[in-house]
Amino acid sequence: MVLLTLFHIVSSFAITVGSYDASGRELNQVPTDIPLNESHIILNNNDIDSLPVGIFEDYKDLSYLDISKNRLTDILPNTFIGTRIDTLRLANNLLKAFPDISEIGHCLRSLMLSFNAITEIPIENVASLQQLAYLDLSGNKNLPPIRTFKSNLSNTLHSFRLEYCNMWSVTDELTDLKWMMNLWISNGRFSEQISDNTFSGTQVVNLYVQNMGLVSFPVFPEGSNRIKILNLSKNKFQEELNARDFGQLESIVQLTLQNCRIDKFPDVTSMNNTLKVLDVQMNNISTIPSNILDYMSELETLLISHNPLGRFPSLGIRATSLKSLSIGGTQIRISCKNLSEFLSLEKLDVSDNSLNNTDALALQCLHSPVKHLNLNSNYITVINLVALPFFRTLQEIELGGNPIQCISKGLPHDGQGRARYCNIVQFKAI
Ligand SMILES: *[C@@H]1O[C@H](CO)[C@@H](O)[C@H](O)[C@H]1NC(C)=O
Ligand SMILES: *[C@@H]1O[C@H](CO)[C@@H](O)[C@H](O)[C@H]1NC(C)=O
Ligand SMILES: *[C@@H]1O[C@H](CO)[C@@H](O)[C@H](O)[C@H]1NC(C)=O
Ligand SMILES: *[C@@H]1O[C@H](CO)[C@@H](O)[C@H](O)[C@H]1NC(C)=O
Ligand SMILES: *[C@@H]1O[C@H](CO)[C@@H](O)[C@H](O)[C@H]1NC(C)=O
Ligand SMILES: *[C@@H]1O[C@H](CO)[C@@H](O)[C@H](O)[C@H]1NC(C)=O
Ligand SMILES: *[C@@H]1O[C@H](CO)[C@@H](O)[C@H](O)[C@H]1NC(C)=O
Repeated sequence: MVLLTLFHIVSSFAITVGSYDASGRELNQVPTDIPLNESHIILNNNDIDSLPVGIFEDYKDLSYLDISKNRLTDILPNTFIGTRIDTLRLANNLLKAFPDISEIGHCLRSLMLSFNAITEIPIENVASLQQLAYLDLSGNKNLPPIRTFKSNLSNTLHSFRLEYCNMWSVTDELTDLKWMMNLWISNGRFSEQISDNTFSGTQVVNLYVQNMGLVSFPVFPEGSNRIKILNLSKNKFQEELNARDFGQLESIVQLTLQNCRIDKFPDVTSMNNTLKVLDVQMNNISTIPSNILDYMSELETLLISHNPLGRFPSLGIRATSLKSLSIGGTQIRISCKNLSEFLSLEKLDVSDNSLNNTDALALQCLHSPVKHLNLNSNYITVINLVALPFFRTLQEIELGGNPIQCISKGLPHDGQGRARYCNIVQFKAI
């Protein structure tokens, strides 16, 4: 019997010197014994309901302060005086107004105010944050109109999150944000569709407009767009998406159309020179027209999981250059013929497809440098890893939810003899 071990590196931890962490301790005030030389103070998930003025005054090195998930109702002026905080996390409190924190306006770069109850945004408080680069106001459901304070946002601000804000107006809310790189808007309902006026003068690079009730593809100002990443998940486009819709996206690298009730594979050919990642997962696409991807010379990642494909799609010449294919939950089977065309795949997801040992055997025809293979939720009992042509490059194999014969001790079982999470496993080599 030969034992093989695959190591699956899940995550890594960064250990910060000078970090004080008292999260989740049911504290109702800031502890008085925090060493004065701390640069990071983490007090999230407690019951702190107020911060005395100047409480951190002696913390000259304090640059990161997290008081998320407490019971703060307001922040008094000069609360943070004496510090040089660059990241301030105040999410999930009960703040009613955008705080006056002008004492750290010269150093503050990231401010998280999401999931408070902010209804008031004094313009001076916004204008005093001259170095702010990242602002998260998500989850404040009754914000005043953005237009009332947007001209007072610092021109250093490049990332702005407005998710779960009940945002509906698109008149001039989002125009002329000239320096904005990343904009997140979600879980509201635009009263009108996105037209070429919506973002006029706003040269956003990464745009997320998710679950905003869009029924037609957004129109962007002609010739001026720099959009590289566009995520339009959870909208419900009523018409087929065609080359005309995408023609304006001259710089697009990554297009996400998850869960948009799309019935027909979108005609992406106009993005042939730039598009690297196409994500059309969780739609109702039943076929990929043959040769539609032939001109997509840059395409590396195709994510089409959870669509009713029914059979393995023909990817034409793109099969030779694709690096990542997600085709889980598409009711497909895999054969040697299907896989032998792929030469560059590094990541393959064929989870949740009722694959059995015959399909697993077909993997022996996949001559690609596969690093990540997802076979979760299938009916595979045996897999001969050493016989896989990509055994040497393989870093991670997921086999959860298969009746696989894991022989490693102590693996969790789901009660039906299936080893569920075989991420770090020793397999019986056949
Ligand atoms: C902070 O000061 C304490 C003594 O008060 C010392 O033990 C510790 O090493 C210091 N930490 C740093 C990061 O300088
Ligand atoms: C806010 O912006 C407006 C328009 O640019 C400007 O007139 C006003 O002075 C600004 N307010 C502050 C407090 O900077
Ligand atoms: C796009 O949105 C979907 C759904 O919210 C999310 O799962 C996905 O990670 C997003 N893509 C990117 C690149 O952020
Ligand atoms: C490829 O894209 C260019 C513009 O980027 C376009 O002119 C050309 O027609 C496209 N080719 C195809 C086959 O769509
Ligand atoms: C999915 O597409 C099929 C036709 O291919 C159609 O009959 C069906 O109604 C669609 N389902 C949904 C949920 O739109
Ligand atoms: C996938 O494999 C099946 C069985 O060998 C074959 O009939 C089908 O044509 C293949 N499809 C593609 C796109 O390779
Ligand atoms: C796998 O499934 C196919 C189609 O249902 C079947 O023909 C084949 O015998 C099965 N192979 C094994 C090893 O169970």
